[in-house]
Amino acid sequence: MNILGINAVYHDSAAALLVDGELVVAVEEERFNRIKHGKLPDVDNPHQFPERAIRFCLDYAGLTAADIDHVAYSFDPQLRRTRFRAEWWADPRSEEVFLLRLGQVRDVAEELLERPLRQRFHFVPHHLAHAASAYFPSGFDRAAILTVDGIGEAAGSTLAKAVGTHIRSVETFEYPHSLGFVWEVVCGYLGFSMYDASKLMGLAAYGNPEAFSRAFQSIIRVGEEDYAVDPEAIGFQSAKSSQIETLLGPPRYEGSEILQRHADIAAALQAATNAAVMALVRRVKRKVPFGKLCFAGGVALNCVTNGLVRQSGEFSDVFIPSAPHDAGTAIGAAFVVHCAKQKSLPERGNSSPYLGPAFDRREILAAVKSAGFTPRRSKAPARDAADMIADGKIVAWFQGRMEFGPRALGNRSLLADPRRPDMRDILNRRVKHREDFRPFAPSVMAERADEWFEIGAHSTSHEFMLFACPVKAEQRDRIPAVVHHDGSARLQLVRPESNPQFHELISCFFARTGVPLVINTSFNDSEPIVCTPADAIVTFRKSGIDALFMDDVYLTAQT
Ligand SMILES: [Fe+2]
Repeated sequence: MNILGINAVYHDSAAALLVDGELVVAVEEERFNRIKHGKLPDVDNPHQFPERAIRFCLDYAGLTAADIDHVAYSFDPQLRRTRFRAEWWADPRSEEVFLLRLGQVRDVAEELLERPLRQRFHFVPHHLAHAASAYFPSGFDRAAILTVDGIGEAAGSTLAKAVGTHIRSVETFEYPHSLGFVWEVVCGYLGFSMYDASKLMGLAAYGNPEAFSRAFQSIIRVGEEDYAVDPEAIGFQSAKSSQIETLLGPPRYEGSEILQRHADIAAALQAATNAAVMALVRRVKRKVPFGKLCFAGGVALNCVTNGLVRQSGEFSDVFIPSAPHDAGTAIGAAFVVHCAKQKSLPERGNSSPYLGPAFDRREILAAVKSAGFTPRRSKAPARDAADMIADGKIVAWFQGRMEFGPRALGNRSLLADPRRPDMRDILNRRVKHREDFRPFAPSVMAERADEWFEIGAHSTSHEFMLFACPVKAEQRDRIPAVVHHDGSARLQLVRPESNPQFHELISCFFARTGVPLVINTSFNDSEPIVCTPADAIVTFRKSGIDALFMDDVYLTAQT
């Protein structure tokens, strides 16, 4: 049975394919259409499908449209109608447009697959899709599940319980109680885009959370086991008035100087988020007395909060998928439909993020030649790349299947030397063009990591760069480029079983330098992460990257 999962409702549109319950391929539309997040987050386009991602999934599996047995869409218009109130919009007519477009979704799927789908098309509640995207890859046979994002149909947070193939929602916190929306509003207030939560997370380390803690207590009221958001305090669309400027002072405008006050606001937001999520963790623990937790939704990209959830010890293990944000719901929706339609269990415990396109040497050579470069071959690419990194070069490392999720995890990565204090500035100046307060993350040999970082028990999700943890005080001076202002690092553990080429590269760097880690940042310059060899060459050519390795073919800035 072939099940196509689709996320298209808000943003981060993506497609995934289950073949007989096995997750075969998943990919985000932005990697193909080169538009960040795949499309605009517009009420007028939930019927705008990730067509290129869908076609890639079919091609990869060697299937045609006729082979698709079921289509799963990670949003439920019926649930929306019963739970969402049009007056929550600033303009209630927005809801009419949104529902009209959702009404066209099945037609679009039928047009794309060129046949009627009828009972083979399924709407899956958004937070159920998030929950499934974490639970089935976790490999846990029972778990508590927490989903926290902006909004599903109406819910901003959902507590759920999973046993075997069955996931049941236990409780929801509906709009306006949405941590994701608070982050979007504060991003806008501080002069960033709604997608810039990671910038606020980086900025928070420079701030004093106490300065605005009282203000945030009135925006997000946290109890022992719950939280509530005041829509007027934060100025949500539905609110008649906004107190945000009364509470926090004048807004910052894009491009203007970042002041200490702005860092203090980011720090207070981070602290309030930590407290609210921990309250939900305690609540789900009380309602679902299992030992393991799955966590999903866009808020689960917050590495600082995630680190606290894990360290709290409320759960013995915490699993977060490589794509906890909306893209991951394409996978989750397909799992939900599999469980409803098949008596058999779906595959569980496959949490690999390497689910996208790969390119063979012939394709790589063709792209290199058509770009006018002379390809060179390396007999030992991992060692040669490690040597260049140790010599202070920025190396683009393009290998195997592309990652699913927002982080590059060693297959579409830019790598550099963590020992050099100036390497953050060099990366920002020559390639990334990011704000200088944002940290760069290390990728570390898993078997050496405890000598350098305070990690605690290793978990699978450490391989997805999802937890911040302290760098050991005595090691900080040795790896200044990856130590954030607060002494933490958002690390990726690399195991040879999960990514042998990347592990070999870091091992070679360790053999030469005594340091078992490299800087790893995504291979892009202010655009979606590169997907194809041609994308890689475009970014290599326009930026200050010193060398590009694709399989065993490499280019250097001189060639
Ligand atoms: Fe979501």
